[in-house]
Order: sequence, then structure tokens, then C-alpha cells
Amino acid sequence: MISSNDPHVLYSLDAGVCIIQINRPEKKNALTHSMYKALADGLKEADADSAVKVILLRGTQDCFTSGNDVNDFVASEERSSERPSVQFMKALANLRKPLIAAVNGLGIGIGTTMLMHCDLVYAATDSFLQLPFTRLGLCPEAGSSFLAPQIMGHQRAAELLLLGERFSASKAKEYGLVNEVLDSQSVLPHALEKAHALAALPSEAVQTSKHLLKRNQSGPLEETIAIELVNFSRLLQSPEAQAIVQAFLERKRS
Ligand code: COA
Repeated sequence: MISSNDPHVLYSLDAGVCIIQINRPEKKNALTHSMYKALADGLKEADADSAVKVILLRGTQDCFTSGNDVNDFVASEERSSERPSVQFMKALANLRKPLIAAVNGLGIGIGTTMLMHCDLVYAATDSFLQLPFTRLGLCPEAGSSFLAPQIMGHQRAAELLLLGERFSASKAKEYGLVNEVLDSQSVLPHALEKAHALAALPSEAVQTSKHLLKRNQSGPLEETIAIELVNFSRLLQSPEAQAIVQAFLERKRS
């Protein structure tokens, strides 16, 4: 495995399991451009490395990620497909190897949408998730407007994506987004145990099975990510969204 180019994203290899850790606790693991790039690079590298059988995404003990660094929402530049965040979304969507998430603490925005790309998700009893896009004057991203209704049905997806309220890990389990809810100390060991169990199986069989499970969604998913991007970019430039972003950034200064 290569090493990460960003100190806030760490890669390690543990008996066939590549662990990619988001590690910026002082900012609730908010994701910068550079961190997205390191996440995308790590996923692609792990997918290509024959020593890796399974990929596990984790945050820190108290936090998965608070999502996109809000500072990066200020710039009104075009959100092109070359952006590191988009590279990350595409890397998630194109993985051949199984992807497992271990969620402690909060998972906001992309911290929730990335779970929709995972094959297995384990979350802590005291963790919570949120898709706050409409509250920020924005719309879904990372293919979530396609994946959420597929995973949980339209009404449940609409509840989470339109109202944008926080929801518990147990609700996420009820809605099909989380496999198991465990006490916070057990999440990572349990996710690792499942990762090692998967890594011990014949990898060609596991990867072929994942491909068969996902093959119908690759075209629509890619198209959805592109359409979401156009709309996200348009909404981000609206005075409404910019005022919400500024209010978040200024709350600590007042
Ligand atoms: N982008 C940039 N900075 C963030 C951040 C984000 N997404 N989330 C948290 N931070 C920063 C805070 O500004 C604060 O920095 P400071 O100590 O330099 O002032 C630090 O992380 C700790 O966050 P704080 O808000 O003090 O912690 P909290 O426990 O009171 O609240 C959150 C945590 C995550 C609920 C709150 O920070 C939040 O709502 N963040 C924004 C989430 C968001 O909208 N993400 C975008 C999704 S599309």
C-alpha cells in the first residue's frame, strides 16, 4: 500500500484488510479537498492491490465525519467532475472489492451518503446520521437520490433527504442503511471481525458476487452523480445557500 498524502487520512493494512481512517477530530473529521483526494487515492490503490481483499472505512472514536468542510462551500466555482470530492464518489461507486464502514459518533452529509455505497455498515448505538442538504439550500449528492430510494423506498428516502433531520443508528438499521447497531466500543472490532471473515473467503467469488449484486446500478448511478452535481453547483451559488454557509462560519466569531 502507498502512504496517504494527507495527514488527516490514514491507510493501514491488517491481514488483507485495508483500513482507511478519517482523522481530523478537531474539526469533527470535516473533509477538505486534499482529504477527498487522499480518500479517493486510497480506495483506488486498495482496489488495485492484490494484498488487499476488503476495504474498511472508519473515522475516530467519537466521530465518523461531519461531511464536506463548509469552508469549501463558500467558493462558487463550478463543481466539475475533476473535483476530488467527485473523484471520491466515483471511486466508491466503482470499487470491485467489498467496502465496510465502522461508524462511531456523527455522520453528516457525505458521512451518510458514502454509507449507501458500502456493502456492510456497522454503527454505534449513540451515533447519528443526517442528510441536511435541503436545510443548507442544497440537494442530494454522491448518487444518494438514486441509492436512498433503492435501499429504503421512496417515502423513507424522502423523509431523510427532504426533511434533513438527524436520525439514529437504530432508525438507519430499520431503513436498511445499517446492518448492525452495537455499543460504541464494539463497532470497530466487530467491523474488523467481519472484514477478516470476508478476506478469508475466495476473493474472486466475493468480488464476482459483489459485481452481480451491483451490476444493474452502475449506469444509472453514474448518471445520477452527474445530474446531482449540476444541481448542487447551481444551488450552492444561490444567495440562500451562501447565507446559510456564512451563518455557520460566522457563528464562532460572534
Ligand atoms: N466543516 C468545517 N468545519 C467544521 C465542520 C464542517 N462540516 N463540522 C465541524 N466543524 C468545525 C467547527 O467549525 C469547529 O471548529 P472550531 O473549533 O475551529 O470553531 C469544530 O469543527 C468543532 O465543531 P463544533 O460545531 O464546535 O462541534 P459541535 O459538537 O457543537 O457540533 C456539528 C458538531 C457537526 C453538529 C456541527 O459542527 C455542524 O453542524 N457542522 C456542519 C455539518 C454540515 O453541515 N456539514 C456539511 C454537510 S453537506
